[in-house]
Amino acid sequence: MNLIFLGPPGAGKGTHAQRMSIDLGIPHLSTGEMLRANIKAETELGKQAKGFIDAGELVPDQLVIDMLRERISQDDCKNGVIFDGFPRTVTQAQVLDTFVKIDHVINLEIPDEAIIDRMKGRRVCPKCGMTYHTSLLQGTTCTSCGTELIIREDDRPETVQARLVVYHEKTQPLIDYYQAAGILRNVDSVGTIDGVYENIQGALK
Ligand code: AP5
Repeated sequence: MNLIFLGPPGAGKGTHAQRMSIDLGIPHLSTGEMLRANIKAETELGKQAKGFIDAGELVPDQLVIDMLRERISQDDCKNGVIFDGFPRTVTQAQVLDTFVKIDHVINLEIPDEAIIDRMKGRRVCPKCGMTYHTSLLQGTTCTSCGTELIIREDDRPETVQARLVVYHEKTQPLIDYYQAAGILRNVDSVGTIDGVYENIQGALK
């Protein structure tokens, strides 16, 4: 099964995609995480992507598509994948349609005001990529691998605002795109993490 998690920054795409990846036994492909790993490793792609990410802009389509195509050609993706943060433009969606059949698109719905609050408390593990929120966290280390948690560079309030503007302009049109394809599943992402996850499971039945 191939799934897409769609939604604005901070909607919970990574949180639920990580959990569903374990439940379904298929890889979680976060283009944001892949790009951050490239920046950390100082690859050519990372150097090209850094300025866009720091400004809250999208990385150019072709760079992301090439990176994603390479990842999806790997053996562990042959039984399906969970896309998180891809596609993010209609161009990316059209290209994805040429090489993957998508079964469901989970569209996480949340108002902008709630997003700002969520982003203030987000902490991430720089080693394994697990995501936490300060309101639910005891201590300052990753419960999965013990690494000290960090605040993402692009979680500064002004960058979050810029990312929301980009989301509404460039990514929101994908809601109509997948609605027209008959595979959009809208899920209210306001509520507890467990409650939202149950709603996602319900939407996939
Ligand atoms: P990316 O890493 O994909 O960021 P994003 O889409 O902006 O999404 P986030 O990771 O910020 O949020 P999320 O929805 O995963 O929420 P999370 O689960 O963490 O992309 C970063 C950048 O890379 C982009 O800006 C762009 O520059 C570039 N990029 C990536 N993909 C690209 C592409 N395809 N094309 C071009 N450029 C691309 O949750 C947020 C917080 O809320 C966490 O602390 C979590 O614990 C908490 N939380 C979650 N759910 C709940 C709940 N129900 N109740 C309370 N707290 C909750």
